Amino acid sequence: MMQKLLEIKDLSIEFSSPKGTARAVNDVSLSIAPGESLGIVGESGSGKSTIAHAVMQLLPKSAKISSGSIFFEGRDLLRMSAADLRSLRGRDISMIFQDPMQCLDPSFTIAYQLVETLQAHEKLSRDEARKASLQMLQRVGIHNAEDIMKRYQHELSGGMRQRVMIAMALLTRPRLLIADEPTTALDVTIQDQILQLLKGYAREAGMSMLFITHSFGVVADVCDRVAVLYGGRLCEYGSCESLFYEARHPYTRGLLEAVPTMERDKALPLHSIDGAPVSVFDPPKGCPFAPRCSRCREDSQLAEKCLGSIPPLKEAAPGHSFACFIER
Ligand SMILES: Nc1ncnc2c1ncn2[C@@H]1O[C@H](COP(=O)(O)OP(=O)(O)O)[C@@H](O)[C@H]1O
Ligand SMILES: [Mg+2]
Repeated sequence: MMQKLLEIKDLSIEFSSPKGTARAVNDVSLSIAPGESLGIVGESGSGKSTIAHAVMQLLPKSAKISSGSIFFEGRDLLRMSAADLRSLRGRDISMIFQDPMQCLDPSFTIAYQLVETLQAHEKLSRDEARKASLQMLQRVGIHNAEDIMKRYQHELSGGMRQRVMIAMALLTRPRLLIADEPTTALDVTIQDQILQLLKGYAREAGMSMLFITHSFGVVADVCDRVAVLYGGRLCEYGSCESLFYEARHPYTRGLLEAVPTMERDKALPLHSIDGAPVSVFDPPKGCPFAPRCSRCREDSQLAEKCLGSIPPLKEAAPGHSFACFIER
């Protein structure tokens, strides 16, 4: 079997906070093959960003990886030296955020930041780094790249800033790009341009993506496989095709109800489901979704089972798994 580019195994992450211990991620296993794009979908607070930050090793001090491992090309990221990690991050693994302000520095020109980023990871002269930066800006659809190079972030529009951040992330030709809701703040037309840009670049460069989004439309367009998270747990995981056409988990089905076709508007956020999200401070001992599950509401015998223990992930079909006690 081909080696996985990224392999997350049984990952659990908790935050200590004044309110207690927040169990943000629980026993999550995911993998991404070279050149493949995996989508992570789930409502706000389901642990998506925490997983991304763990891969980037950007978790805050209050976070603790309580179990599990993260392998990148077979190397354990959690046991790597700080120096190895630094060279990996920003070169082999890059991340783009929902808010470009998180990556761009207001006090330096775009040119300066791009050149610095590149020179930090590759032995290039200033001229060479400048030329490569210019080319990457053009590659992400910035036509007046020479002009943009001289600017500061506050002089750019939201869409332009997003493109600059993407250029910065792609500059070192990463093997894995982590995109955390990269287009949520943009208007629909620009959103679509950016998605097509990332998709096209990934295909050309053989780059893998971990794509966090609120929209199944985006997943259908950009990703090969998708993981659905609920309360920091995987509830369904498989190819986009199998999930869109044969979702087994009631949560996935509920989310998909609002997306009748794959061509559906990509701006459409997740369908909201009645009931309050699970508490990360006091997770139930059974299926986290059970209190909101309509099937449990209709069937008291089932409810008893679902509230009593956490359903393990089981196979629906090869490469498609789900965590639910319901047989059909
Ligand atoms: N720095 C933090 N301190 C305490 N709790 C946090 C922190 N960051 C995230 N959490 C908690 O972890 C859970 C998952 O958060 P997050 O990964 O940001 O979700 P998502 O990206 O899916 O919206 C949430 O319940 C959130 O409150
Ligand atoms: Mg998030």
